[in-house]
Amino acid sequence: MATVLGIGIATLDIINEVDGYPAEDAEVRALAQRRARGGNATNTLVVLAQHGHRCHWGGVLSDEADAAGIRGDLERHGVVTTPCRVVAGGRVPTSYVTLNRRNGSRTIIHYRDLPEFGFLDFAVVDLAPFDWIHFEGRNLAETRRMLEHAARTAPRARRSLEVEKPHEGIDALLPLADVLLFSRRFAQARGYGSAPDLLADLQPRNPDALLVCAWGEAGAWALEPDGTLHQSPAYPPPRVVETLGAGDVFNAGIIHALLDGAPVGQAIDRAGRLAGRKCGQAGLDGLA
Ligand code: ADP
Ligand code: FRU
Repeated sequence: MATVLGIGIATLDIINEVDGYPAEDAEVRALAQRRARGGNATNTLVVLAQHGHRCHWGGVLSDEADAAGIRGDLERHGVVTTPCRVVAGGRVPTSYVTLNRRNGSRTIIHYRDLPEFGFLDFAVVDLAPFDWIHFEGRNLAETRRMLEHAARTAPRARRSLEVEKPHEGIDALLPLADVLLFSRRFAQARGYGSAPDLLADLQPRNPDALLVCAWGEAGAWALEPDGTLHQSPAYPPPRVVETLGAGDVFNAGIIHALLDGAPVGQAIDRAGRLAGRKCGQAGLDGLA
């Protein structure tokens, strides 16, 4: 099993389950409500930890009760939080999630007002133990310095970068990772109609990286540096219960499979099966 460091955010998710997505200005009653820890990198780490990896999280927390709940959830899953920074008096980011019980769709309103984990926080982490370092594609100038620092000081560790949101300037980070995990949202925002179009177009600029793009119910594609394109279907569960975090679980599936030595075609297939299983249940427990 491997030792993995994940850099990104943790959130408090307040999830309202509704019977159909409401119209604007409607007043509807939620069928159920729950609070959960969320955030892409921490979601990915929690699933990797379930698969037996030693996971560490680098991110920012506050000193309020909601942050204690987030830390408690990570510790319950065995994710080590020592690299994280605590901001006194801050509030953790929140996501208000409207979860449509009819189709599992999740509509997220996210708010954050907490400093980001930066290069100086990262520079004091001893990277020697890590086999893999995973980054969220956010806080771009600082993340770029972290990726460069990791490449320089921990060349043994493979670096993955999640490219989910089409932030301006994110392209400068792409050549710095070994595995690039793109989302459909990113591809569409950049004007691509399909995952293969995105991957083929980006490859000349990232010739040494493995390029992966998940496309919801259509499954996922991966393009290897030697030009081999792989496709894997989605694996819908008997009933789609909740798609919240499906992409984060897919990313965990890719990292786990590659750490396990799986060939790329098998890795996207295994990741798709895992993400499909997640869509059939609420939350992220029991996915190993
Ligand atoms: P995100 O959660 O970031 O929006 P996607 O919607 O692209 O990410 O989903 C990531 C992966 O999760 C997909 O490649 C697929 O394997 C799986 N997935 C997502 N939605 C479904 C679904 N309705 N049924 C089965 N699998 C799904
Ligand atoms: C799901 C998720 C939620 C979080 C939001 C942050 O992918 O990580 O848990 O609230 O996205 O963007």
